[in-house]
Amino acid sequence: MTKRKILVTSALPYANGSIHLGHLVEYIQTDIWVRFQKMQGNTCHYVCADDTHGTPIMLRAEKEGITPEQLIDRVWHEHKADFDGFYVEFDHFGSTNSPETEAYAKEIYLKLRDRGAEESLIDKRSIEQFYDPVKNMFLPDRFIKGECPKCHAKDQYGDNCEACGTTYAPTELINPYSAVSGAQPERRNSDHYFFKLSDKRCQQFLRKWTTGQLTKEPPLQPEAANKMQEWLGAEEENKLSDWDISRDAPYFGFEIPNAPGKYFYVWLDAPVGYMGSFKQLCKKNGINFDDYWAGWAQDQSELYHFIGKDILYFHALFWPAMLKHADFRTPTKLFAHGFLTVNGEKMSKSRGTFITADSYLKQGLNPEYLRYYYAAKLNGTMEDIDLSLEDFVAKVNSDLIGKYINIASRAAGFINKQFEGIVAPLQDDDFNDAIIKTRNIVQGCYENRDYARAMREIMALADRINGDFDTAKPWELAKVVGKERELHTACSKALHGFKAMSLMLFPVLPKTAGAGLGLFRAGNNPQWQDNGNSPELKINSYKHLMTRLDPKLIEAMVVANQESLKPMTESHSQQRHAEAQQHAIAPIAETISIDEFSKVDLRVAKIVNAEHVEGAEKLLKLTLDIGEAQPRTVFAGIKSVYDPEKLKGRMTVMVANLAPRKMKFGLSEGMVLAASGETPGLFILSPDDGAQPGMRIK
Ligand code: 2FM
Ligand code: ZN
Repeated sequence: MTKRKILVTSALPYANGSIHLGHLVEYIQTDIWVRFQKMQGNTCHYVCADDTHGTPIMLRAEKEGITPEQLIDRVWHEHKADFDGFYVEFDHFGSTNSPETEAYAKEIYLKLRDRGAEESLIDKRSIEQFYDPVKNMFLPDRFIKGECPKCHAKDQYGDNCEACGTTYAPTELINPYSAVSGAQPERRNSDHYFFKLSDKRCQQFLRKWTTGQLTKEPPLQPEAANKMQEWLGAEEENKLSDWDISRDAPYFGFEIPNAPGKYFYVWLDAPVGYMGSFKQLCKKNGINFDDYWAGWAQDQSELYHFIGKDILYFHALFWPAMLKHADFRTPTKLFAHGFLTVNGEKMSKSRGTFITADSYLKQGLNPEYLRYYYAAKLNGTMEDIDLSLEDFVAKVNSDLIGKYINIASRAAGFINKQFEGIVAPLQDDDFNDAIIKTRNIVQGCYENRDYARAMREIMALADRINGDFDTAKPWELAKVVGKERELHTACSKALHGFKAMSLMLFPVLPKTAGAGLGLFRAGNNPQWQDNGNSPELKINSYKHLMTRLDPKLIEAMVVANQESLKPMTESHSQQRHAEAQQHAIAPIAETISIDEFSKVDLRVAKIVNAEHVEGAEKLLKLTLDIGEAQPRTVFAGIKSVYDPEKLKGRMTVMVANLAPRKMKFGLSEGMVLAASGETPGLFILSPDDGAQPGMRIK
C-alpha cells in the first residue's frame, strides 16, 4: 500500500485560559488518531498553536501590567506543559502571533480582495457600534452590559438576557455601560471590512463542498452536513451573511494591508494559524509546504481538522470558502466532537468539576487513565461525552488494571522464574486467528475514530486471554512436576496476547503500552504490522506497569478545583468563541432609603418542583412554597447552570411582591435571587439551615 501524506490539526486553544479536561477530549482524540496513522507507516504531521489575538487578551495583559506578547508567551509555556503532561505529541506547537501566520493571513486577504477581472470578495462598509469614551475603544458585544429591554433585569450582556432569554442587539439595552470601564458608551461609526460570504461564488461553492460533490468522500459527518444544510438554506433563500473580519485599533492582532488602524478579527487569523504553524514545521524539518496546501495538492495529500461542534460554522463555511477563493486546497474532512460533561452536568467551578489539566497532573493522576477513559467513550460522532468520576475509577481499574496489566503481571513471573524469560512460540491457531481478527477490526475502528468500539474489542480479547489463563490454572501447574510444558504454553500464550494488546493500545497508552512492548524488547516506534505471530521471544524482567486508580485522588482533585477559582480558567468550551469577559464589577446602583428597601418583600422559599420549559433555552419553571395556600410559579433563567432534579427540595430566597409578569411560557409570580458577575456562573441564594418557607428576610 502506498503511504498516505496526512496533515492533522486540533483547534487552537485561546491564550487567555488554562487547558481543562474539556479541551483535552479533542487533543487526546487527535493524538490517538495521529499515533495510529504513524503506526500504519503513513507520513502524518500533527500541528497546533496558541490562538493569541483579540480584545480579551489585550485587556488581560493590560490588567496584569504586561504586554500581550509577554502574556501569550507565558500561556504558551503553560499550555505546552499541559499537552506534554498528557502525551499529546504535536510535531509542532506554534502561535498565531507569528510572521508565518501573518504572511498567510495577508496573502489570503489580498487574494480575496483582488480577484482580477472578477468582483472583489471583500467589502468595506461603515457600521455603528458602541464606543467606550474612557478606554477609547469600540466594545465587543460581550463587553457591554445594561438593563434587558424586555424584562428589565439589570446587568445583562449585550447579546442576550440571562433572566428572560431574549436575544437583542447591544444597542437595544437600557442604560448600557462598558464592562471595561463602567463608562456610558457612545454610538460611533467606523469602517469595517467584510468577507462576502453571501456572494454567489461562495454560496455555490459551499453548497457543493458541504454536500461532498467536490471531494472523493464527503468532508463532513452526517450530523454536521445536516447542520450545514440548515445554515445554507434553500438556494433562493440566500441565508449566509457577510462576515465582519476587521476590528478597530486598539487591537492585538495583525494590521490589515492598506487599512491603517484596522486589524484582522481574531477568528480570521486563527485557522490561518494552522498554515503558519505547519510552515514553521516545514522549515524545521524540510517539508514542502505546497505538498499539503497548494490548490493542486487536494488529491495528493490529506488535511484533517479536529474541532468541537461549537466551531463548525467557522471551519465548514468561512474557512473552506476563504481557502478556495485564495487558491489553496480545502480540508479533506472536518472531525467534530461533542462537549464534555462531568458527572452528567456542565463543568462547574462551584462543584469542582471544572478541572484543569494542570490540577489533574498535580494530583499525581496518571494521564493515561484519562486517555483510556476518553477513548472508551469517543465514537467519532458529535454526541457529548460524559466523564462520570465514579465510572472513571471503576472502568480504569477494571479494564486497564484488572484485564490488561493483569495478564502480564500474572504470566511474566512464571516465564522469568521458570523458563529463563523465554516465551514459547504461539501454537494455538484459533487464538492466533482471534488476535488477527481483533486487530483488523480495531484498525478500522481507529481509522473511523470509533475508539469506543476499538476499546471494547481489545477488552473482549483480554477477557478471552484471562479466561484461558484461569482455565489452565498455571499457579497449580507450577506445583506439579511434569506439567512444565503446559505451564510454559499457558503463560506464553497469555504473553503473546498481551503483546498483541499492547500494540493495539499503543495509540491510546503510549507510555504503558510502550513499556508493555518493552518487556518484549521492542523498539520505541512500534508499527501496526509488528503485531503478527512472533517467533520465540525473550522477555525482560517484569516491572509493574500501572497502579490502580485511587478514588481518593479524584476526591482531592475535585476539592482542589473547588478551591482554586483562578481568573485564568475559562468557561465551558461552548462559550469559547465568545469574546471573554474582563473582571470588572458592575457599578453600584443609586442609593435608596430604608423605606424604599423595605418595600421589597423577600421570602424564604422552598423549591417544591423544578422542570424544563419546552422551547425555552434558558428558563426553568420553579414551583415555590412560601407558606401560602397556593404555591407560586416563577420562571428563572438558570437552566444553563442548574439541573432541575437537583433543585427540588432546596431552599432559596424570592421577591414575593414583584408584579406578576406575563412571559411567553406563562405567568411568573416573583423572582428568585441569584448572584452573577463578570466571571461565568450563576448562583442562587440559600438561607442557612433551619429557615422555614415564608419567613421574611429583613
Ligand atoms: O474556540 C476556540 O478556542 C478557538 N481558539 C479555536 C480556534 S480553532 C482555529 F480556527 F484556529
Ligand atoms: Zn430579560
